Amino acid sequence: EKGGFEHFMLKEIHEQPDVIKDTFRGRLLSDKGIIRMAGVEDNLEKFTRAKRIVIVACGTSWHAGLVAEYMIEEFARIPVEVEYASEFRYRNPIINEDDVIIAISQSGETADTLAAIKLAKEKGAFVFGVCNVVGSSIARETHAGAYTHAGPEIGVASTKAFTTQITVLALIALRLAKEKGTLSHSEYLRNLVELELIPEKVKEALLADSEIIKIAEVYKDSNNCLYLGRGFNYPVALEGALKLKEISYIHAEGYPAAEMKHGPIALIDEQMPVIVIAPNQNHYDKVVSNIQEIKARSGKIIALVSKGDVQVRKLADHVIEMPQSTEALTSIIATIPLQLLSYHIAVMRECNVDQPRNLAKSVTVE
Ligand code: F6R
Repeated sequence: EKGGFEHFMLKEIHEQPDVIKDTFRGRLLSDKGIIRMAGVEDNLEKFTRAKRIVIVACGTSWHAGLVAEYMIEEFARIPVEVEYASEFRYRNPIINEDDVIIAISQSGETADTLAAIKLAKEKGAFVFGVCNVVGSSIARETHAGAYTHAGPEIGVASTKAFTTQITVLALIALRLAKEKGTLSHSEYLRNLVELELIPEKVKEALLADSEIIKIAEVYKDSNNCLYLGRGFNYPVALEGALKLKEISYIHAEGYPAAEMKHGPIALIDEQMPVIVIAPNQNHYDKVVSNIQEIKARSGKIIALVSKGDVQVRKLADHVIEMPQSTEALTSIIATIPLQLLSYHIAVMRECNVDQPRNLAKSVTVE
């Protein structure tokens, strides 16, 4: 049932090229320039008229929400807020009838997310669900939605659910952009074509596995770890840190790279591995200077770079290469090496990778 893999988590990491394809199958017709999702099509006006979109979720799904915030604002120019469902539901949030709520949940059973949806519905908002489990409570409670089609996720640490959530949310952002005319046709088409290439590029990113195992061996006994990223890769840094803490029990923090100088830089010494997501894209030079700041304080740098990178390679202690895509979609690719790194470190520490202590697959308690 683990398909020859040692753990469900590893199997699910390797399933990502296929399940991402399943997620856009029939929805993405890049040669025709068409994105077709019934739940979005049927409610297009609600989305395009929305004064704002509020995304509610927990944990990894909340990280996918942060990526979606950047995508929807960048492509469709609709203001987006992302809230922890548990905060949203208890703070008497301002919700108007022309707000659209997007609830993201792998299991579709998370109690706080479900309660946030019920509250938003009471206030008259339109609620759209992005769920993995078909027929789940959240899928049933929302007005409309889109499934992620990732298949059952058994490992408690979410992997393929996250990358397929980003895939669905990218489709939504691009569909709304097309409707609103907020993205040039060439940029729109470029993202469609690149989305179609993501499964191949994820497959290529998985090939860094043996390099990642070597890095895991060096840092498996660390007590702390920092993850840095900018823009679309900032939520990826948060997700990388969450994955490491939950399965290896190493304390890890994710930060937007530029925030480091406002505090976390004080933590950096030769004991501190810093994982920097540094693709050769917008703000590359800024990330390079962040890396220099870490190096000047003897931090150990593990950099996630674009294939063929020269500049960061000279500075970093270790590099992991990955293929590049559009700025937005690189977030999917950058997630893969971070999943593998957490996995290998956890295995080396003899942790129960598929069922980490104190965690449950679906959090139905409040
Ligand atoms: C992390 C993880 C959790 C879940 C969170 C929300 O790997 O699995 O943080 O993401 O409990 O769960 P869902 O998406 O089922 O609502």
